[in-house]
Amino acid sequence: MNIIRGRIFSFLRRPENISDLDSFLYIEEGGILYDENGVIKEVDEYNSINRKHKTLPVKDFGSMIVCPGFIDTHNHFPQTQVIASYGTKLLEWLNKYTFPNESLFKNEDHCKKEAKIFLDLLNLNGITSSVSFGSVHPVSVQSLFAEAKKRNMNLIAGNVLMDRNAPADVLIPAKRSYENSNEIIRNWHDVGRCKYAVTPRFAITSTPELMEVSQSLVEENESCYVQTHLSENLDEIKTTLSLFPDYKNYLSIYDNYKLLSEKTLLAHSIHLEKSEKEKILETHAVTVHCPTSNLFLGSGLYKFKELRKMGIRSAISTDVGGGTSFSMLRTLDEAYKVQQLQDFSLNPLESFYWATLGNAKALGLDNEVGIIKPGNIADLIVLNSNSTPLMSHRMEKCETVQEELFVLQTLGDERAIESVFIAGKNQK
Ligand code: GUN
Ligand code: ZN
Repeated sequence: MNIIRGRIFSFLRRPENISDLDSFLYIEEGGILYDENGVIKEVDEYNSINRKHKTLPVKDFGSMIVCPGFIDTHNHFPQTQVIASYGTKLLEWLNKYTFPNESLFKNEDHCKKEAKIFLDLLNLNGITSSVSFGSVHPVSVQSLFAEAKKRNMNLIAGNVLMDRNAPADVLIPAKRSYENSNEIIRNWHDVGRCKYAVTPRFAITSTPELMEVSQSLVEENESCYVQTHLSENLDEIKTTLSLFPDYKNYLSIYDNYKLLSEKTLLAHSIHLEKSEKEKILETHAVTVHCPTSNLFLGSGLYKFKELRKMGIRSAISTDVGGGTSFSMLRTLDEAYKVQQLQDFSLNPLESFYWATLGNAKALGLDNEVGIIKPGNIADLIVLNSNSTPLMSHRMEKCETVQEELFVLQTLGDERAIESVFIAGKNQK
């Protein structure tokens, strides 16, 4: 058993507005007791926990915020070295930078080395749960699962499925991908905290046969997730509809192959038609906002306010390497700016909810992560709101926790992530 001491901050439900103080648990001098398996046993005033467990070791973070680890609902393992590639939009960016880099992941040594770097970067930035694309090569995602298992980290991932419109070394025929995926599911799905996601990259790199394979994998493995890309870029949509001329819109391709459910993550979802939004609502699929990527690739502005009003589910993610940062704080900052450009000021309670409990709910995992409560796993981070001279100076003017969160997301980066615990074990 162990105790973490600090200022505990954890959402209980979605905040309705910036004054919604009942939407979160806030204990100024709090304590979290967890067992050797990393399961949270008690959350209370520190003094009360200490009174009952006087001899236990205490990690004391003073007045720093202790909150649930961030959850990244969409990123690409084989793209760490693609970040910061100049001068292109989506389709050219994929061909010029991304596919060549992903081809390197046929090599096991490269995968192992990159898996450690990738998860280190996520963890250093306070991301304790990740939903990730591998490359097309099974060894990529197997290496990533193995590295996650070492850390007892919550990882949902899949080998990307692609069988056309890319260089030969990042394509695998549909039948072969079916066999590969089944083997990975057998070896990794529900092993430790690893879970499998069926991962057709997007319609452009999928033949109808590959879509059928995706459908079979989903039907035969109901507990697996589905992740793909949707309506990110206008040229992408045009190309998609020219490859699938019998479909009325982009989403109807995925719908035809029965890929849409509450376990489906649709990255980007920017340029949606009315009937696509209605279908997303009906199927309970999740739209995933990727703000740093959408700005970097000039893809467009995610319509958060409208989608939320309709009741469409949404998650937020880094989308590295189209995204430009492993930091969820940087990501929330860019999300704020994307909404500012649409005359909507996303409040900091909503954005921190999004990155923690909101994303946990989007994955159906809020009884494991995203909220500090007994029975959940001690995936916890400690936020240092004074981690740079500017932040310290700005903090002098902060009076509420909402203001502090806004300073953290506007000015913070990995330096503000003081400490990281995955299943109770220190990773930073
Ligand atoms: N659409 C298909 N593949 C990708 C990818 O790797 N990144 C982004 N941002 N969009 C995609
Ligand atoms: Zn992506």
